[in-house]
Amino acid sequence: MFVVPLIERKRDGGALSPEEWSACIAEYTAGRLPDYQMAALLMAVVLRGLERQELAALTDAMLASGQRLSFESWTAARIDKHSTGGVGDKVSLVLAPLVAACGVAVPMMSGRGLGHTGGTLDKLEAIPGFRTGLSLAEAKAQVMKLGCALIGQTPEIAPADRRLYALRDVTGTVEAIPLIAASIMSKKLAEGLTGLVLDVKVGSGAFLPPVAQGLELAQTMIALGGDRGCPTVALLTAMDRPLGRACGNALETEEAILALRGEGPPDLMEVTYALGVEMLLAAGIETSTKKARKKLEAALSSGLAAEKFEQVIEAQGGNPKVVEDPSVLPQAEAVEVFLAPETGVVTRVDPRTIGRAVVALGGGRQQVDDVIDPTVGFVITVKPGDRVLEGEPIASVFAKDAGGVKLGFEALGQAIVIGDRLREKPLPLISHRVTTDGIEDLTRSPAGAV
Ligand code: URA
Repeated sequence: MFVVPLIERKRDGGALSPEEWSACIAEYTAGRLPDYQMAALLMAVVLRGLERQELAALTDAMLASGQRLSFESWTAARIDKHSTGGVGDKVSLVLAPLVAACGVAVPMMSGRGLGHTGGTLDKLEAIPGFRTGLSLAEAKAQVMKLGCALIGQTPEIAPADRRLYALRDVTGTVEAIPLIAASIMSKKLAEGLTGLVLDVKVGSGAFLPPVAQGLELAQTMIALGGDRGCPTVALLTAMDRPLGRACGNALETEEAILALRGEGPPDLMEVTYALGVEMLLAAGIETSTKKARKKLEAALSSGLAAEKFEQVIEAQGGNPKVVEDPSVLPQAEAVEVFLAPETGVVTRVDPRTIGRAVVALGGGRQQVDDVIDPTVGFVITVKPGDRVLEGEPIASVFAKDAGGVKLGFEALGQAIVIGDRLREKPLPLISHRVTTDGIEDLTRSPAGAV
């Protein structure tokens, strides 16, 4: 295929036809279009965007590059959630078993770390033995038996996205509404869902920080889902600081397990419950936010959600003891406590600096085939607005050696800013709800006032 004229057309602001998008994706998936040409085309999309019919064609071509989970006559509601990516965002690990424990089938297909953000698959694979590469047949059987499977993109599912995702991660082509929307929706539409809930991150640590862009991304994905028979709802949530306390694969898995045992940090729990409520409503299991929230809280406090996670881990080859004893997770060689350098108010905990430092410590990929070190990362116990005293412990670095600790300390020194007062208000934790009916500003209602 002679792709240069297509790259040039896109570069110059023109559009590719649906047939051209379909051919590009088919050739790329088959290995006949090289990475460097696809990277050039992706960069042209980052700079020029996609027209509506181009986005539809790209998404459909990515979806068609693989197979789809088909539940045939199994009529149970099947709902998933997907996040656009954040730092410390371990919501999926808590939410999937929690919602499954409430009786909703959750065939969750997740991604790996991308850019400065972490990925659910990398977090799950911190659990010794855990296998995310289930075949479609295995995933389907597990969802029908346990109500939940936590899987990655096997070669069968949206293989085009699998390759594009890895390529975008290392070519500066992540940050574009159409590429994020097509990537997420091609995976989600392959899952045979009856509904989808999106967690669209906004703020400095999100791929698209401005709220206006988050809203546009949400509306773009909702339209793609709705047009393809998958009713989709989105919440906009804050990513101007890390979510929860832990950032780094095994550390986040441990925090997720603690959350399932009722010891999760308040911000992580609020986002998890809000998304869980949407999933129960989408499944038709509950008809009001209040009842849905109660059901979720009961599933968590009764231990049912933790038990469900144990069952899923066991079914996917992992060591289920991790739920009872998170020390089963791999542990960092070097751990050091970071002390507040001065007395004052924490004005910023910059998620991008933290996310990039996790990658630099070895917890993410700088090249496509880098191997992840699950043990490294940070636990940061302060949030913007907290008062601290000089010398007070406010974070810990988990690294593989003294060099890593030094790097981690430098990152914390940059990321955690202490001043005399909070100058900029942190973003509301949950700011908007977006549906096909429009945009609801939750800061005007109790749900967002956290
Ligand atoms: N998550 C995805 O699956 N794809 C993206 O492009 C960004 C976040």
